[in-house]
Amino acid sequence: MIFDTHSHYDDEKFDGDRKELFETLLSAGIDRVVNVSSSMKSVEKTLLLTQEYDFIYGALGIHPSECGELTEQALNEIERKCRNSKIVAIGEIGLDYYWNTPEPSIQKQWFVRQLLMARQVSLPVVIHSRDAAKDTYDILKENHAEQIGGVIHCYSYSREMARDFLNMGFYFGIGGVITFSNARKLREVVEYLPIDRIVLETDCPYLAPVPNRGKRNSSLNLPYIAEEIASVKHTTVEEVYQHTYENALHLYRMNP
Ligand code: NI
Repeated sequence: MIFDTHSHYDDEKFDGDRKELFETLLSAGIDRVVNVSSSMKSVEKTLLLTQEYDFIYGALGIHPSECGELTEQALNEIERKCRNSKIVAIGEIGLDYYWNTPEPSIQKQWFVRQLLMARQVSLPVVIHSRDAAKDTYDILKENHAEQIGGVIHCYSYSREMARDFLNMGFYFGIGGVITFSNARKLREVVEYLPIDRIVLETDCPYLAPVPNRGKRNSSLNLPYIAEEIASVKHTTVEEVYQHTYENALHLYRMNP
């Protein structure tokens, strides 16, 4: 069985064929998917998906690029919605200095605030961090994220940074980028990471792996990612599926 730990099936790119696609996923062995929200609107859509489909679970939170819309009241509303057995994480939250809006001080403020919310509802966090390695690490450290737990989604930093996040007990989300020809640094990181800290993710509809790069992504592309990880780790695809599935259950504290 295969676990997609990070997807955005609420995206309108799936509006035309979502139901049919989900049936195909199940027959392809993908039997657990976490839909991750990024805005207030996608929080609502994520909740609906988890109610409608047994195999879809949810992460609720506001993406750094969307946190300009946040208020204390909105956050209390999200916190209330997290008290639901299908909601398994807070996310995606973090820092994005590539897009850099809203300004870093605002992003940091809501990142810290959402870490506190994760602590209050006892859920792990899904971290989005782009061009912000040091600030992300410092904020996680200061807020004792080792007690919260979670995953660095779409990991894109160095091996040295990976060691620091490993020491904090975090998992690493590996997706389509590992199949890109310019992903030498990421392949080195994956070679370095223990297999029991890696989880599979698509970030669909974004970041489709080779040979489907540039097209709409879906969990059906996970085998391309697993094959690349297996090749880097000198193991079999079956081993990769088995480990990453167990890791995902641990990460999201779900029963087998
Ligand atoms: Ni995402």
